Formats: sequence, C-alpha cells, structure tokens
Amino acid sequence: MTTDSTPKVFNNPRKKEGFNGRVCSIVGVGSYVPERVLTNAELEKTVETSDDWITSRTGIKERRIAAANEYTSDLAAKAAQNALENAGITADQIDLIIVATITPDMLFPSTACLVQQKIGAKRAAGFDIEAACSGFIFALEIAQQFVMSHTYETVLVIGAEKLSSIIDWTDRNTCVLFGDGAGAAIIQARPDSHGLLTTCMGSDGSKGELLSMPAGGSRCPATPDSVASRLHYLRMDGKETFKSAVNAMLSAAQEVLRRCQLEISQIKCIISHQANLRIINAVSDRLGATEEQVFINLHKYGNTSAASVAIALDEAVKAGRVQRGDLVLLVVFGAGLTWGAAVIEW
Ligand code: ACO
Repeated sequence: MTTDSTPKVFNNPRKKEGFNGRVCSIVGVGSYVPERVLTNAELEKTVETSDDWITSRTGIKERRIAAANEYTSDLAAKAAQNALENAGITADQIDLIIVATITPDMLFPSTACLVQQKIGAKRAAGFDIEAACSGFIFALEIAQQFVMSHTYETVLVIGAEKLSSIIDWTDRNTCVLFGDGAGAAIIQARPDSHGLLTTCMGSDGSKGELLSMPAGGSRCPATPDSVASRLHYLRMDGKETFKSAVNAMLSAAQEVLRRCQLEISQIKCIISHQANLRIINAVSDRLGATEEQVFINLHKYGNTSAASVAIALDEAVKAGRVQRGDLVLLVVFGAGLTWGAAVIEW
C-alpha cells in the first residue's frame, strides 16, 4: 500500500501517553459505492429543485443509490474485502470489526456481525457504533484503544450507510444531499512506524434536534401514525447544522494540529466530511489551507455520513494524493451533535 521513504518524526501525543513507542497504523484502506448513479437532473424530475441550486449550494452533482436488495452490510463487506486486499491480509486475521453506521440492516443483530459472516472473519468479535457522520473517526479512536492496549492486533473499521433507506424522497431540503456507500480501514500496531498521531472527539446533545430521525426507537416505535407522519425519515435544520458544522470542525482541526505542534502548511491532504463544499471551504479557508491541500469527492457521492471520510481517504490514497510519510488531517461533523478530527502520518 505504501512506498518506502525515511520516516519523519513528529510530536506524537500517543507516545507521551505511555504506549512505549507502539504506533497504531492504518495498514490498508478500501471502499465501495453502489453502481446506480442518481444525478441532479434526475432529481429535478421528482422534486422542485435544479442542478444549478444543488451545485451552487452544496457542490454535489450526483450520488450513488444502493439496489433494493443491497443493504448496508453488503456495502460494508465489499469495502472491507477491498481493504483486506489492500493490506495484504486475510479475513481470518481480523480480531475485531467495528461498523459505524446510522443505517444498520436492522436494529439487531449488529451490522458488524452480518459483515463478519459475509467476509468469513470467523475469529473476530464485532459491534456497531453510532455517531452519525462522525462515526468513522469515533470508530478509529476505539480501534486504536484496543490496539494500543494490546487487546487486539488487527481491527477492521468500517463506515457504511444506506442513507437512501431513511431519506424522504419528497423533501427537497434533504433528499438532494445524501447518498450510499462504504469505506474501510485495517488497523494494526506497527512499532516505530507511521500512524495515527492523535484524534479528538466531541459531542453536544443539547443540539440533537437539529438532525435526527424521530421514530423507530424506544421513544417512538413504528405505528401506522408514525409512518403516516413520515417520522421514520431523516430531518434536518440545514442552516443551523451548517453553522454548527463549520465551528465544530474548525475547532476540532485546530485542536489536533495544536496537540501535534503542526502548522496547517505541514499537512499534505485535508480530508473533511463531504457534506457541503461550502462547509469544507469555510473550514479550510479559516485554517489557512490552500485549495491543493483539500481533497474533494462529494460531487460524485454527496453526503454518505459515516462512510464519507472513509471513502475519501481510500480515494485520496489510491489517487496518489497521500504518500508514505505525508501528514493527513481528517475532520468530521454529524448528528448528535458529534465532531472529531485526526492527524495521521501516512
Ligand atoms: N432545491 C431548491 N430549493 C431548495 C432546495 C432544493 N433542493 N432545498 C431547499 N431549498 C430552498 C429552501 O426551501 C429555501 O427556500 P425559502 O427561502 O423560500 O424558504 C431556500 O432554498 C434557501 O434554503 P437555505 O436553507 O437558506 O439554503 P442553504 O444555503 O442553507 O443550503 C443546505 C441548504 C445545503 C441544506 C445547507 O444548509 C447545508 O448543507 N447544511 C448542512 C448539512 C450538513 O452539513 N449536514 C452534516 C451532517 S449530516 C449527518 O450527520 C447525517
């Protein structure tokens, strides 16, 4: 997956935390998006919108939609197989599978257990986590804790979503924004090698109502009324979410840079949650980053929630935008509210 180069030694806060030089590395990445492309032009035929409005307000041109018989676990399993090949390891080497998703196949069993069966990772334990669009970084941090504590050697982290299953396709405020897909990473400890330098996570439950799916849980189980009231679909206050996203992503990015004593100019590639081009630009401008540093793929996929930065990381690596020794900044924001950032020395 990587080419040789002299490792650069950056301030790694993890090393100060007593991990005896053990560094947690992403040793393989992979992704999968469904074949079906839904363009802005097609959406113009179903809701009152236009390619011009969607492109100018969001940067999104098209998104991928999973087939009716293709579920989150299927997308996740394909991304996982891609990451296993990239890492050069087999499924029976995986100790733990963590799937970040807000669109599990069902409430239980977990999507991680379904993925375990689909890829044949017989030795692995598995569970799901839910931090909406921030899920992949939250899952990376959890994986890192297991690896650094010597509990597990190899952890498969997946961000996967079939958001098309919870989108109200009659609501132009939300239906143009989202898409389906999955991204995966294999985490292992590599003594004295490159790796995750630091991560940070944050939450603010007081703003949970900005972005939610009201029904389907214990508060509002499915009833004919809840279905008729369209409560099983994602709802969002776009304007307030936008403001919160910019502020939270900016401070998370600044926090991880400060912890590693890095300037933004030292970062080779910034991979932000791909929700809205205007959010990505507002954050990178305030960080003082150049256009060349910022990786964008949301024009192709829209917002794929927990899968978003995972797919973008895979594409950035495979496009050569991230090379061995480069510093990568990941920054995310999602429902909860939740946010996070990570610095990786690739
Ligand atoms: N086509 C045409 N017009 C539209 C559309 C559409 N698809 N959607 C909304 N409009 C209209 C609105 O109704 C409104 O009309 P009005 O003024 O007559 O009421 C007008 O366009 C302006 O709407 P705004 O809300 O002001 O548009 P804004 O510039 O804020 O962009 C958007 C809306 C794209 C949703 C933006 O607010 C946004 O991206 N928010 C953040 C989303 C996000 O980051 N989510 C991240 C987390 S997602 C997760 O965790 C699952």
